Amino acid sequence: MRPLYYYQTYMVCIFPLLLCNLLPLVDADNKENKAQSKRGLAYQNDAHKADNKLLFSPESPVAWYYTWSLWPTPEVHDTRAVEFLPLVHSTDDVADGDDFRQRLDGLPDSSTHLLTFNEPDGDMGSGGSAIEPEDAARAYLDRLAPLRAGAGGRSWNVSHPSVTGSPRGLDWLRRFNASCWDLDRDRGCPADFVAVHWYGEYEGLVGWLDTLHDFYNSPSSEKQQLKFWITEMALPQQGDEAALRMMNQKLPYLDGLDYVGGYAWFGVFRKGEEANAWTGDAVSLFDDEGGLTELGSLYLSSGSGSQDGNNGGGEFEPGTKGPPGNDGDEEGAAASSCLVSRWTVGLAGVMAVGLVAW
Ligand SMILES: *[C@@H]1O[C@H](CO)[C@@H](O)[C@H](O)[C@H]1NC(C)=O
Ligand SMILES: *[C@@H]1O[C@H](CO)[C@@H](O)[C@H](O)[C@H]1NC(C)=O
Repeated sequence: MRPLYYYQTYMVCIFPLLLCNLLPLVDADNKENKAQSKRGLAYQNDAHKADNKLLFSPESPVAWYYTWSLWPTPEVHDTRAVEFLPLVHSTDDVADGDDFRQRLDGLPDSSTHLLTFNEPDGDMGSGGSAIEPEDAARAYLDRLAPLRAGAGGRSWNVSHPSVTGSPRGLDWLRRFNASCWDLDRDRGCPADFVAVHWYGEYEGLVGWLDTLHDFYNSPSSEKQQLKFWITEMALPQQGDEAALRMMNQKLPYLDGLDYVGGYAWFGVFRKGEEANAWTGDAVSLFDDEGGLTELGSLYLSSGSGSQDGNNGGGEFEPGTKGPPGNDGDEEGAAASSCLVSRWTVGLAGVMAVGLVAW
């Protein structure tokens, strides 16, 4: 821990320990932190409770998540501060319109964005949904576009299908667009945002975003400026250092782009567990014991700056199993409701334990 933090915590927190409960500043600070954060999780029901606790803790900048399905994770269902984005994986999900509507209506009010058709240009074996553009356009117009106006229920911000980051993906989008305009000559398939996937180097991501930006802002397209949400991104098949460097470049870039509404790193799993064979282990946010990797530590820090800076909100240290001091001892909990900034929260628990020992 850094000496400076130790000193500040001592001054701010230990002396007025009893008054601390009266100042609920932390909550406000954390909510604001999440509200401004674009950071999300592409998340497959993680079996490790400790990992979940860390990912969805109030100190974490994670503001949204999705599960590649219409089902939220039961454990985070009641976390209103974190938006769940349902995803319509394939046309099967919307085949029964009533069923589909009921499912959406049952989601928490904090869910406002709907993702559609995961990698329709990719095959099922790699998580794609292999949908012909014509079929996707028909299902989109029948079942998804009407949700934007809230036909018969809540209204949703609906995304266009998220294709693979490749020429094949772009070609699929072109054919989808053509089918949409064939079916609806006035409006095509209107959308509120665009979901983007990218696996590769930072420069490639910049290029792919430019390509899509041009595609969606062609002179004849809707005037509205669509937000982009990068719902999968990683540097596959590389080592830890390369992955960390890439994330270090990416985060500030995406945080600074006005037209990016959110982004999610792939993937939220432990080394050696769910990482798919293609991406490799270096993309993991957790090590094989559930501690954060350097990548995980960077992703869960609220700043978008580099790993070694003192200003990046480095409260999540690599190797920790949770925010420091967050393991439920009473002194830590009492002290934590008073702190003015987030990094001091974690240290309060450590300080309290130190006091007791002393
Ligand atoms: C939904 O999208 C519209 C633009 O189409 C935007 O104005 C609105 O703020 C969005 N709603 C939410 C909840 O983000
Ligand atoms: C979508 O199709 C319409 C109608 O053919 C066309 O005017 C428009 O340029 C297409 N948009 C894109 C992005 O290709």
